[in-house]
Amino acid sequence: MIVQINQSLAKLNTFGIDQKASRLIWAHSADEISNYVKHHGAPALVLGGGSNMLLTKDVEGDVLKVDIHGRRVVFEDDDKVHIRFGAGENWHEVVQWTLMQGLGGIENLSLIPGNCGTAPVQNIGAYGVELKDVFVNCEGVLVEDGSFFNINKEDANFGYRNSIFKNELKGKAIITRVTLELTKRNHRIRTDYGAIASELEKMGITEPTPKQISDVVVAIRQSKLPDPKEIGNSGSFFKNPVVSEEKATELTERFPNMPSYPASGGVKLAAGWIIDQCGWKGYRKDDAGVHKNQALVLVNYGQAKGDEIFSLAKAIMDDVYNRFSIQLEPEVNLI
Ligand code: EPU
Repeated sequence: MIVQINQSLAKLNTFGIDQKASRLIWAHSADEISNYVKHHGAPALVLGGGSNMLLTKDVEGDVLKVDIHGRRVVFEDDDKVHIRFGAGENWHEVVQWTLMQGLGGIENLSLIPGNCGTAPVQNIGAYGVELKDVFVNCEGVLVEDGSFFNINKEDANFGYRNSIFKNELKGKAIITRVTLELTKRNHRIRTDYGAIASELEKMGITEPTPKQISDVVVAIRQSKLPDPKEIGNSGSFFKNPVVSEEKATELTERFPNMPSYPASGGVKLAAGWIIDQCGWKGYRKDDAGVHKNQALVLVNYGQAKGDEIFSLAKAIMDDVYNRFSIQLEPEVNLI
């Protein structure tokens, strides 16, 4: 365990917000985390890849950075393999590594910022695939008493950008390892998401490999989403709202071109499209802005403070509410 005093977190969150931690603690194993919570209780903040959060203030207290590495095969047969990843493994590097081994399952989730340990928390998803589709289980430490837990897929209560870790276990569990099931052959290729299908068609590919799907996803994401290494951001800042059938019908009459998708519990709308309709795409005030190619993504052009980004988010939410009577919800965690 390494302890740093009064440390800037600017390089540890993809928004690049410069707030400080009174103490920054790097944990390299589940045992270290267990010992820490037994002696100190819950840290003020647990940090994974820092890709789904907005820091609006300094953190008074300990920030625990989960820096556990490792990739190990824990089960294998002719068709599939279960691999256990340390929570601190970078997600996209893991995706690329699985593709180099010829494994399938997470190619549609290429280039999502963040680490393996936080992937189950919000059930990361893109282009028709969610983490839950490949999740086997995850291990971790309960902050209450430092005991170890192991949660399987059935108990993780996955939903759209949701899981047990955002509900019953919020603030109570620190994930240390995640096991995923990947295919060695007969890959489940998913190209149903419109943009993937049309890209493949353009390239003349009819039977894509997982690696080719990944290449297409990377190209699509790079064309519309900003690279956090160049412009600070946290991916989609808001969740796509799910509204009732009646509300969706009423809006479709007013806006015949509005994208909508069937969802459990109603109809899912595209928050990016709605924010775009309200004229916010490309908006900038000082260093806080709305990305020019995807209105769902808020950006930090350099020196924006977390509360400036948050004020912009509130202005967008108010405007959307006034025009569409829809209450948007942030997808990122506000600290
Ligand atoms: N759209 C606009 N203007 C915009 C943005 C989007 O008109 O500024 C329209 C698009 O043309 C499309 C629809 O809205 O018809 C949906 O857009 P897109 O396909 O880009 O997906 P999204 O709903 O905006 C979601 C995820 C993304 C994920 C993509 C692809 C959420 C909150 N976001 O975005 O996830 O990459 O689908 O699967 O569910 C993330 O979570 O950080 C993230 C980037």
